[in-house]
Parts: sequence; C-alpha cells; structure tokens
Amino acid sequence: QLESFHVSSTMGFVLDDPKTDLPEYYHPWMSIAMDLPHLIQTHQLWDRVHKMPLLSITHLEGHREQRLAHLALGFITMGYVWQEGEHQPVKTLPRQLAEPYCRVSEALDMPPILLYADCVLANWKLRDPARPFEIENMDTIFKFPGEESCRGFFLVSLLVEQAACTGMEGIVMAMNSMLTQDNRGVHDGLEMVNKSLLKMKEVFRLMRKHVEPNVFYGTLRIFFTGWKDNPALPGGLLYEGVSTDSRQLRGGSAAQSSSIQCFDALFGVKQMEASADSYLKDIRSYMPPAHRQLIEVLESRKPLRSYVSNSGEQDLIDTYDKCVKALVDLRCYHLQAVTSYVSAPSKTAYRGDPTPREEKGTGGTNAFSFLKSVRDSTKNVLIKPE
Ligand code: HEM
Ligand code: ALA
Repeated sequence: QLESFHVSSTMGFVLDDPKTDLPEYYHPWMSIAMDLPHLIQTHQLWDRVHKMPLLSITHLEGHREQRLAHLALGFITMGYVWQEGEHQPVKTLPRQLAEPYCRVSEALDMPPILLYADCVLANWKLRDPARPFEIENMDTIFKFPGEESCRGFFLVSLLVEQAACTGMEGIVMAMNSMLTQDNRGVHDGLEMVNKSLLKMKEVFRLMRKHVEPNVFYGTLRIFFTGWKDNPALPGGLLYEGVSTDSRQLRGGSAAQSSSIQCFDALFGVKQMEASADSYLKDIRSYMPPAHRQLIEVLESRKPLRSYVSNSGEQDLIDTYDKCVKALVDLRCYHLQAVTSYVSAPSKTAYRGDPTPREEKGTGGTNAFSFLKSVRDSTKNVLIKPE
C-alpha cells in the first residue's frame, strides 16, 4: 500500500538506491556539480555555467536518472545564484541551465529549485556498499562549501527522515484498523508511531556532533535560500529561454518533509494561524507528487481523533495523547535547533545591526512565530490537554 505512494518500508520517503552518475552525454553538468565547493569559492562557477552546452533531457532514463539530474541542476543553480553572496544574487538563470532544468522539473512535476526531496532524500551514497547504512559509511553525492557540516546537515536530516519509516507503517495500521473497528490494531499502530517519533528526535541529536552552527549559518545556509518572500530577490528569478516572466520559488527547507505532514494528518492537526496553514499547504507542491498524494489521502480519511475519543477506552486515549506529545516534543526540540543554528550565530554575525529583525527561514517564513504557532496547533489536538 505504501509502495504505491513511493514510500519504502525501510527508507520511508528517502529515495532508496539513488543513481550517483548520469550517462556520459551529461558530463558537462556532472563535472560542474561534482566540483561545486571549489568552483564557488574560487568564483569560477559563473564562467563555467556560461560555457556549458545546451543539452537535451531525452537521454535521461527512468525516475532515478531524472531525480539525479534535478538534484545536479539544483545544486548548480543555487551555487550560480548565490556565488557572490546574499547581497549580489543573480536575477537571470542562463538558458543552457534554465531550459533543461525546467524540462526535467516538468517531467517530475516538481519546481525548478533545489528541494528537500533533492538535497536530502536523493543525495546520498554508501562509501563502502558492503558496509552498513550508517553515517560514518555514508556520503552525499553533491556538496556545497562547508565540508563536514554540509555532509552532516544533509545526512542527519536524511536519517531523521528515515526514522519516520516505521511511523508510516504505524499510520497505515492505525487508519485501517479504525475502518474495521479493531481497537487493538489502532493501539498497535499508534505505538509504532510513538516509537518512530522518539527515534526521530534521538537521531536529530546527531546534528550537534556533525554540524557546526557558525559554518551552517555563515557558509552553508545561503545555498538553500530561494526567491519567494525574499527581499534579496524580490522579483524572483528569470529562467531564460523558458518564460519571459520571472518565477518566485521558495527555498529548500525540511518544512518540505512529507512525513511530518502525514503525522499531522493522522492526528487531525489544524493550524490556528491562516498563514501557517497556507504555507504548509503551499509547500506540498515542493514534494514529489506521490508523497503529496499520500498526505491528501490521509487527510480525506475519517478522523482518528474523534474515533479514539469516542471509543471510551482510556488506554487508547492515553496512547493517542502519548503520540501527540511525542510530536510536540519533536517540534520543541526542532525549535531549540533553530535557536542554536540560526538565532545564536546570527547574533554574532549581525552584532550592532541597528534594525534587528526576526530571522527568516530559508523556506521564507518568519521562522520563530511560524514554528511556535505550528507547535501550539499540535498541542491543541490532545484529547486530555495538560
Ligand atoms: C521548518 C530550521 C532541521 C523539519 C523549519 C523552519 C526553519 C527550520 C527556520 C521554518 C521554515 C522555513 O522558512 O524554512 C531548521 C534548522 C535545522 C532543521 C536550523 C537543523 C539545523 C530539520 C530536520 C527536520 C526538520 C532534521 C526533520 C525532518 C521541519 C519541518 C518544518 C521545518 C517539518 C515545518 C514546520 C513544522 O511542521 O513544524 N526548519 N530545521 N527540520 N523543519 Fe526544520
Ligand atoms: N530551513 C532551514 C533554515 O532556515 C535550513 O535554516
């Protein structure tokens, strides 16, 4: 059942067995994408992109090659736009980059900007395929400047996402058991969800070991920044040769994670703030289509919360509330991460800034008010509020 939504029982929403190389014809893209940190730091990327030939996407075979092309062109695009930093963004993407990027994006039904589905879900390989799937034996396919912090940020995010896989199975079990009024099944499904949420938080802790806040904030983060709700690029980006109007697209953010929205759909979380609600709905168009469909299917099902609350079974109600608390707790932990990785380093970087402003997330939100409101909306679905 989950497979039909491109969710795997061991990897969740992570792309399993991603391709790591494209056919020889695409060497001009791959040679640039593989050398990105160096090309950015030596200010050579613009020049290399200008010399790139215009290639057709017809030589890409199958979903995995298309995903790798979307990932590679996404890295090149972010590097190209932000090579000279926040204050000197490029406003036009040259045709030889823009055209194939938009074509492959249409084929995948995903927007032409670097997505969480690219840089986290499809950007990994095993260093030694004979050894286990664990961070020491993993690497990203493409990199931005930032070295170990860049590798760590993508891979820890990937491992958090992977830890949601048993939660997805739990969701299906709980939802299906509700249809047959099998309370034992609902209970067991929710227990799987709870374990999975606890595991996600535990894995999230690895961030501290692998990602240095000042490197994340000062070096890496600019490359996820988009061109919507961003005062640095108010007009968006012109994709030359594709359209005569600029497009406004949101930057990369784990806000594009499908698993968290699936949990919200399971518990029936309703955003109290209209802006947060519309943001989270809008961001679904930045997910792979099969993943966004799964969220919609879950949302259209009969609400689990009223089923549990009407069951009168104390044990079932407690288990449901335990899960909601685990999701609130994960969101509290996430807020702490934003404090360590965004607020704290921004204070050092902007010391003396005469107009202190609320930090924007790379996805374009006013980070703190948005995240606190989403956390509080999650608390609202507790059956027995504390
Ligand atoms: C949203 C920062 C890691 C899941 C956000 C936002 C920020 C942020 C600023 C607001 C949206 C935006 O404008 O971008 C961070 C930082 C991280 C981190 C600094 C690590 C250093 C993660 C990880 C996950 C995650 C590993 C797990 C999959 C989410 C979700 C949202 C979000 C689901 C949407 C709001 C919600 O549903 O609660 N993040 N994030 N983040 N992030 Fe993260
Ligand atoms: N969305 C994360 C941030 O804003 C990456 O820093």
